[in-house]
Amino acid sequence: MCRQFLCMLGIAFTVVGISETPLRVQTASANTSPPGAMSAAEAYQNIQVLKEIPADQLVPAMQFITYSLGVECSYCHVEGALEKDDKKPKQTARKMMQMMAAINRDNFDSKQAVTCNSCHRGAPHPVATPIIAEGGPRPAFESVLGEDTSLTDAPPAEQIIAKYVEAIGGAAALQRISTRQEKGTINISGRNLPIEILSRIGGKQLTVIHLPNGDSITAYDGASGWTSAPNRPVREIPSVEVASAKPEVDLQLPLHIKQLFNEVKTAGTEKIGDRESYVVAGINSGEIAAKFYFDKESGYLLRILRYTKSPLGRNSTQIDYADFRTLNGLKVPFRKTIARPNSRLTVQIEDAEFNVPVDEKKFARPAVAPTPTRPSP
Ligand code: HEC
Ligand code: HEC
Repeated sequence: MCRQFLCMLGIAFTVVGISETPLRVQTASANTSPPGAMSAAEAYQNIQVLKEIPADQLVPAMQFITYSLGVECSYCHVEGALEKDDKKPKQTARKMMQMMAAINRDNFDSKQAVTCNSCHRGAPHPVATPIIAEGGPRPAFESVLGEDTSLTDAPPAEQIIAKYVEAIGGAAALQRISTRQEKGTINISGRNLPIEILSRIGGKQLTVIHLPNGDSITAYDGASGWTSAPNRPVREIPSVEVASAKPEVDLQLPLHIKQLFNEVKTAGTEKIGDRESYVVAGINSGEIAAKFYFDKESGYLLRILRYTKSPLGRNSTQIDYADFRTLNGLKVPFRKTIARPNSRLTVQIEDAEFNVPVDEKKFARPAVAPTPTRPSP
């Protein structure tokens, strides 16, 4: 049901923030309440466990399950009737949610310590017996605050960020930019499609992918975001995703990085391919919300790894930057690779320009008010 190309397209939208899937969830027409105000139980037809969560966090939670089990939506859902309980795995998943909540409540002060991924790790059937890996043991650690051992040779975060600002052209050059227009191609499952990205200071960004049957649009207007696709209603981007995408959307990120988080600090060193990098962590409410990887030598930002909160666990998005070229005295990456647990997309910019005049209205939602998703009977 989810043909490869379509699936990837669903992800393409997330590239730039859309939490969309090829499954059709129809919208109610007369609903005007602000997104996020409704609970999942009110917005959807058959919610028995995740009743209390904000409606706009249901899809991020579903994505988390999908990544954790390494399956597609159709593993649990009947196409076109997501409320139906016909499939056994969906029924099992409900029990699993309750089990997970109980484990965390009884053992971890209700923190999200154990998630679907703790056991499943990308497979529907967890592996109970430790396996012997080809090529010897390969420990996999998740970085936890305060446990890093590679901190000794890394400078303080302020210094790493300052070096980055200098390396890309200096604060004055950065302050002079107000807009950026980029044109290029996006590679989705081996197909190249034309893409245009329009950015403006104040966290505004509009991404248009030209599909054979029309445009797919993802927009951030500074505080919220929306998406649209051919033959589909305009959708609100979940607020958790908007919050997580902030660093990625900011045209003057190095100047604002400290304001985006409660705390910004060095979190060690790591290798990206053959490049050594310093890792700077952005921390909110005592939890790492994003990690920034700066090349030790050039100082450039090579990677952003950011987390999107969901009621069941956090979804990660990784953006790698490459092909740095000079534009108006600033170094700009012309290649971005956006990876999620089940997808990888590359955007190659061919043509970029700063400070082109941009109509503010472009970032605003189209006239028809988007409504929270609510499947109709
Ligand atoms: C492992 C099983 C599983 C997978 C995979 C899964 N879901 Fe779900 N989904 C559920 C369960 C269970 C519920 C009901 C939750 C509850 O009762 O609290 C649900 C409910 C929903 C609903 C609410 C439907 C209604 O009206 O009641 C939507 C929408 C939804 N899922 C979308 C998705 C999408 C989109 C994907 C793929 C990204 C997905 N789901 C993947 C198990 C799954
Ligand atoms: C404490 C470990 C643990 C956690 C946490 C956990 N699971 Fe499971 N899950 C299992 C085990 C064990 C099985 C049984 C697998 C088997 O039959 O081989 C299972 C089976 C399942 C199945 C049935 C798979 C199939 O096709 O038969 C689904 C669906 C599932 N889990 C979903 C989830 C979801 C969704 C979450 C998070 C809300 C979750 N699980 C969290 C351990 C866990």
